[in-house]
Amino acid sequence: MAMPTSVWHEYGFRGNPYSTDPIEVSAAGRELLIGREQELALIGRHLTGGASVVALEGDFGVGKTSLAAVAAFDAAQWSKEGGPLFLAMDTRLSLRPEDTRESFERRVVRAVAHVLVANAGSLKSGGRPLDGVEGVKRWLQAPEAGGWNASLGANVGGVAGGNAGFGKARTPNTSTGFAELGIAEIVDGWLAQLFPNRDSGGVLCFLDNLEELNDSGTALNVMEPLRDPLFKRPGLRWIISGAQGMVRAAYASPKMAGVFLNPIDVRPLPHKLVPQVIFARMKALQDQDDAVAPVSMTAFANLYRSIGQNLRYALNLSERYAFDSDPDELRGISEADRDLRFHESVLREADLVYAAQARDLGAADWKVFDHLLRSKAGSCSPSEYKDFGYAQMPPLLSRVRKLTEAHLVSYQIDEADQRRRTISVTDHGRLAYYRHVNDA
Ligand SMILES: Nc1ncnc2c1ncn2[C@@H]1O[C@H](COP(=O)(O)OP(=O)(O)O)[C@@H](O)[C@H]1O
Ligand SMILES: [Mg+2]
Repeated sequence: MAMPTSVWHEYGFRGNPYSTDPIEVSAAGRELLIGREQELALIGRHLTGGASVVALEGDFGVGKTSLAAVAAFDAAQWSKEGGPLFLAMDTRLSLRPEDTRESFERRVVRAVAHVLVANAGSLKSGGRPLDGVEGVKRWLQAPEAGGWNASLGANVGGVAGGNAGFGKARTPNTSTGFAELGIAEIVDGWLAQLFPNRDSGGVLCFLDNLEELNDSGTALNVMEPLRDPLFKRPGLRWIISGAQGMVRAAYASPKMAGVFLNPIDVRPLPHKLVPQVIFARMKALQDQDDAVAPVSMTAFANLYRSIGQNLRYALNLSERYAFDSDPDELRGISEADRDLRFHESVLREADLVYAAQARDLGAADWKVFDHLLRSKAGSCSPSEYKDFGYAQMPPLLSRVRKLTEAHLVSYQIDEADQRRRTISVTDHGRLAYYRHVNDA
């Protein structure tokens, strides 16, 4: 069977303009990030000021990972203008509850080795050659196969003891553990050479989705042992992001004192900038003059507003619609008609959710939901009850219970820290809201 053409090609694009993937660390990615000037400036100040950890807190899908990627890309350009040297990690690290210092450190060392090897060429032409790059490169490609040890003989032997950092003391053997240790030593040597002090920059490491550690007790137990050996390791600088107050919880803990600066709040992208998100993507991906966007800039911005401002979910709904529609059919009608069709399609889905789950909600419930979406960017703590117009927490919690039963919000209590409670809007809640605000 012949390979089917991509649906995006049929719309006239090289790729998916509604992809929900985060923006990548690259010049092309830079072009896709809209707004965020203030946040970028703040991250830049934290980095040039020598912060070990820049922390980003914000709801799911708001744009934290993308912001971090572009901030890192920008920072990596500074050395070209005589600024400090920042090298951006091209992978994202995450922590799991079962992680130990050793398991995490292994992943970090590997990722850092990868960045340094990838940049070795340009570092060399900039007068900062790294010793032993070929060996590390081979080990990265085949660590289990003992590639490292094989290369140890070939490379280091050739340098005849001239490589002060690592070759001297250890007898080569075939264990991966040894290789890991050897790699860590080399990497630290490289870091010390490239970044003799805090002002000289560092390798930017991403630790994403801290909320995956579930509760703040686990988060702190996992993170505390990493504090000095990793978060404060010379030559490494961190961008850590998380949702649901997890970054704030870590920041507020005495166990992490002195590591984090004040976390940067990542709020939803202002509605008026949202058409540009689609515009930038269309510009980057268009490959036919008569390309047709199944969801136009305007339709997308309307959607974004009517689901309470969440980029990832707006992209996800648009992507699904584009997949399910017939490109030929959409090409044959006007943009206004296409927009109407999209609206009707989302409304149909929203109606189903609404009828199944939200029909019995009263005005007071909707008022809470509305405030949560509009003023709290979809997520907050019940301790903010006053902002909802309540004099006490319990009446707010009864509204939250009704919304939870209707699956429009989720309510989580941190087992380790009862004060860390989060009310967050669900995707279903966002769809129901679409129906609610478009209710004629
Ligand atoms: N400022 C922005 N401009 C354009 N697109 C963005 C912006 N921020 C996020 N996006 C897009 O929105 C989606 C969600 O962003 P992401 O960074 O993954 O959010 P988070 O990490 O907060 O969950 C991604 O597809 C990303 O490309
Ligand atoms: Mg993310």
